[in-house]
Amino acid sequence: MDFLRLLPSPTEIQCSALSALNTLLTYTRRSNDVILPQTDFDIDPITGFVPPEPLPRLPAEYKIWEDALTEAPEVLRLWDDNSDEALSLRAEGETWRATIRSRPALDVQRLKDQPRLLQRAHLVLAWLVQYYVHSLPVAQPPTPKRVPESLAVPLVEVSRILGIAPVITFADTITWNWDLINPEKPPTIDNMKLAHSFSGRDDERHFYQVQAAVELHGTQLLRIIENYNQIPNLDDFTFIFKVSRDLTRLTAIIEEISDLIQSMRSGCDPYLFYWEMRPWVEGSDAKGPTQPGWIYEGVDPNAPELQFLSGPSGGQSTVMHALDLFLDIDHKLQKKRYPLPSAENRRADHGFMERMRQYMLGKHRAYLEQLEKSPRSIRELAQRTPVLREPYNNAVAALKKLRTLHMRVACLYVVNMSKTVNPRSACPAAGMMERQAARMESSAPPERRGPIRGTGGTELAALLKAGRDATARAALRN
Ligand code: HEM
Repeated sequence: MDFLRLLPSPTEIQCSALSALNTLLTYTRRSNDVILPQTDFDIDPITGFVPPEPLPRLPAEYKIWEDALTEAPEVLRLWDDNSDEALSLRAEGETWRATIRSRPALDVQRLKDQPRLLQRAHLVLAWLVQYYVHSLPVAQPPTPKRVPESLAVPLVEVSRILGIAPVITFADTITWNWDLINPEKPPTIDNMKLAHSFSGRDDERHFYQVQAAVELHGTQLLRIIENYNQIPNLDDFTFIFKVSRDLTRLTAIIEEISDLIQSMRSGCDPYLFYWEMRPWVEGSDAKGPTQPGWIYEGVDPNAPELQFLSGPSGGQSTVMHALDLFLDIDHKLQKKRYPLPSAENRRADHGFMERMRQYMLGKHRAYLEQLEKSPRSIRELAQRTPVLREPYNNAVAALKKLRTLHMRVACLYVVNMSKTVNPRSACPAAGMMERQAARMESSAPPERRGPIRGTGGTELAALLKAGRDATARAALRN
């Protein structure tokens, strides 16, 4: 054995000295001011909320799940797809679903101390649920969709251990859904490839990749938050210049994230997004409160986690929540700020961001709770320190602009596309020209269409405007 390799390298010595200093700082602060380091919350110093390595595949006894996921895109199509290809696959699709129904619910207890395998189990089961539910023929009038026990029971168990909602989440589609192109190289956005895709299209790859890029870029922002939290004494003026510089850097990072969100348009077609990708990830409440939700067979229908079965949303991005909490954005309208919320703001879903936390890993949610409870609000510091006001306000303005740009993207991809015709409801024989024409028309008169909802099931326009306005309200006034 090469014992020299067991000795710490100079970098490791430096790291452990820093970590000892951090621990010392952590525990020498006032007892009500203890701030634990990000590493305590499964936040990687390099990749942030993204795991530092691809998730390992499940061990042999769970191979049937992995195999079912590999097979799913080959044999399953959306339930309303009547194309020749989809019709020719119907029998195979039914066999796939019948096999899932016939299987026992595997015990997941032996994974319980292996967080990465639990995450992989969550991903696999959650994707299988979406494949199952959205390929299943829909009864008229619609009846609740039943998720078979073989998927529902282990998914709920795994989710309980991880502290995450038992449904497909932002993590399952983005932060955990990648492999390395070159396993010898580190996980950078250029060295990551999408592991699973519903449509198999480049557009879907781009859609997920842009969001993964935001998460990776967000690690710089996490570092700024960590540095701020490690400042031993905020009233010591020598640190104020550092805080000012960091706020300026934070503004630039937010602007870069805005650019990333804008880059969605270069590789993801809104029509394909709306009709080919989005239907696969819809959650139990996607059609609004008047439509029946899903039944998880074998699970107590009163289990609290069954309240959280919405589809994945950018609102589940832990990076965006960390940013909001750090800048003290008040989505819940609990603080008296100006201009006062409009009537539309007040009617919007104020609990959305809070609810979205249930769709994150328990450890990541705990980190956000720590940020939320932190007694060292940067907004308050900027309020009492004139030199920090402008850099703080610039960061808030950049975040408001990000939300304005994001609203445009959401409008283009969701609101506008909701007025186009579902290609699967158009006559199968219709040619390309007719299809294009159909895209320009609305499929139902506006009064018969319900409110436009996000994948999180909420009314989207009011929600996004309320988020933008809550951001603007954080700006400090003279
Ligand atoms: C084509 C691209 C995108 C579309 C169509 C889109 C659509 C939406 C929709 C419909 C919502 C409403 C909530 C819900 O899901 O029900 C939402 C919320 C949200 N999205 Fe996106 N989004 C896109 C890209 C992104 C990206 C790249 C991010 C960055 C992580 C992001 C971050 C958020 C956040 C943080 C929210 C919560 C509301 C807010 O903070 O204002 N979105 N998005």
